[in-house]
Amino acid sequence: MSKDSLLSLLEAESGEYVSGEEISRKLNVSRTAVWKQVRKLEADGYLIEAVPRLGYRLTGKPSRLSVYELLPKLNTKRFGRDIRLLDVVPSTQDELRRLAEDGASEGTLVIAEQQTSGRGRMGRSWISPAGKGIWMSLLLRPPIPLPLTPQLTLLAAVALSRAISRVVPVTIGIKWPNDLLVNGKKISGILLESAAEDERLRYVVVGMGISANLDPEDYPEELLLKAVSLKMASGNSVNRTDLIASILEEFELLYELYLEQGFGPVRALWEAHAVTLNKQALLQTPQGPVQGVPRGLDDMGGLQVELEDGSYRTVYSAEVGEPR
Ligand code: BTN
Repeated sequence: MSKDSLLSLLEAESGEYVSGEEISRKLNVSRTAVWKQVRKLEADGYLIEAVPRLGYRLTGKPSRLSVYELLPKLNTKRFGRDIRLLDVVPSTQDELRRLAEDGASEGTLVIAEQQTSGRGRMGRSWISPAGKGIWMSLLLRPPIPLPLTPQLTLLAAVALSRAISRVVPVTIGIKWPNDLLVNGKKISGILLESAAEDERLRYVVVGMGISANLDPEDYPEELLLKAVSLKMASGNSVNRTDLIASILEEFELLYELYLEQGFGPVRALWEAHAVTLNKQALLQTPQGPVQGVPRGLDDMGGLQVELEDGSYRTVYSAEVGEPR
């Protein structure tokens, strides 16, 4: 028996109880097997009431995103005005890259309910279970020189943290360059992938993963030490539609400000939200470990680290960790 046949049976009863006995007879399986499939459906976000002697009853279905619900909530000019909402994809990054190559316009957004090969920074994978998070990629075509691309990484972190704290009552700290933390645990990650030609930036795909409504059982155990969802941190389920609308609005506002006034305002906002400044840290860079105290950002978006001898070194790529 698959969970789908159990689901069809429960759905056919439209909210009425079906006894475990009846289910096991109709589907020709043991009652233990029925119970196991009930648990699986619950893990997928279905709400099933189990009452002794009465049986099982379907009381709720997992929430699904809908473009029709999202569009009226959007306060943007270009961001999210072309939305592709998909069910299951390997990665929204690849879907959007394909659209970008076909000439999609700035602000095009790809959202997926589930990713099967979601990827993170530094070659890591990104868990993206169905219906529980926000897995999306936004297309930018910024008229900026290629070496300034890292500034957009920091801009994205500021936009996301402002947007999230508008919708969910949590305090967000940014860990350099763009991990968003709540109480020291990661709730969101951002991955920028860019396409360039002859030293010219053609487009940037901003991948955003927000762990909105994940439950502890959605995480591999070792990840629970350093990751948390907004639902787990705040105690309430998050309305993903409101959150997406808020992200697109904050992102567009900050991006416009950046194109008009340059990196200054973004840099000040980033530094105000940062949790990695002014305390000893160990940075794993591609060139080896660097120990010191991160003091702020340079004009390009690099992290300026004060070393033990008082000199400064700027780091452009690293994993920031606890000092030895
Ligand atoms: C990180 O913290 O390492 C970055 C994680 C980025 C995850 C998002 S989810 C949507 C988009 N598609 C992907 O495959 N990755 C990004």
